[in-house]
Amino acid sequence: MEQSAFTVPAHVALIMDGNGRWAERRGHPRWWGHVAGARTVRTVVEHCARRGVAQLTLYAFSADNWQRPTHEVETLFRLFAHHINRQSQRLARHGIRCSVIGRRDRLPLALRGAIADVERRTAAGRRLQLNVALDYSSRAAIQEAMPVHAAVRGVTRGATILPPVDLLVRTGGERRLSDFLLWECAYAELLFLDCLWPDVTAATLDAAFEDFARRDRRFGALPSRASA
Ligand code: FPP
Repeated sequence: MEQSAFTVPAHVALIMDGNGRWAERRGHPRWWGHVAGARTVRTVVEHCARRGVAQLTLYAFSADNWQRPTHEVETLFRLFAHHINRQSQRLARHGIRCSVIGRRDRLPLALRGAIADVERRTAAGRRLQLNVALDYSSRAAIQEAMPVHAAVRGVTRGATILPPVDLLVRTGGERRLSDFLLWECAYAELLFLDCLWPDVTAATLDAAFEDFARRDRRFGALPSRASA
């Protein structure tokens, strides 16, 4: 692990926005941007492991993304399955444990198989916990985690509440959370970048971590230099 000159956030969450625009600006179809975005995912995961991030959560597909055209949704699912299959050995080798959060029952069988496989192969990883949010809705996860919900509906779908997020970064210029980790982001530092996801590099991440290290996190208390 490389030593950093600044405090690295323990849990980083990323909203990877801007793939479609990145492709359209280059005169390509949107899927081209998703392919480029998947390459960026690999760079980012490896850089976070190198910097000593303990937990990284990626917003790959929201429950609301089903509203996109069927061909785009199918392309995304094929891309996820392809990358999960291709990367699983590499992730295991790097000590990266990969888990998927969100609903699985609506995903194609091939993708569900790839998920089960990567979770099994990487289960021993202790260097970085990588969570990929697929068919994910934070409001649904919170609702399902409520005991009253379980009592009324019977079995839950295995709702996942993750550890608190320290730094949430959204690329693509929008300034909203879009139903991502609402509970976990209670005290997260938020960083909104105008750059599009495929343009993110290791240097973008380092700049984000440096920005994070300069923030005064008080969690509701007084600033550390304040006296009574
Ligand atoms: C948002 O950009 C991006 C997505 C909905 C998909 C994210 C997927 C990837 C980065 C690819 C691979 C991921 C993994 C985990 C292998 P957008 O389509 O909303 O872009 P736009 O705002 O420019 O339209």
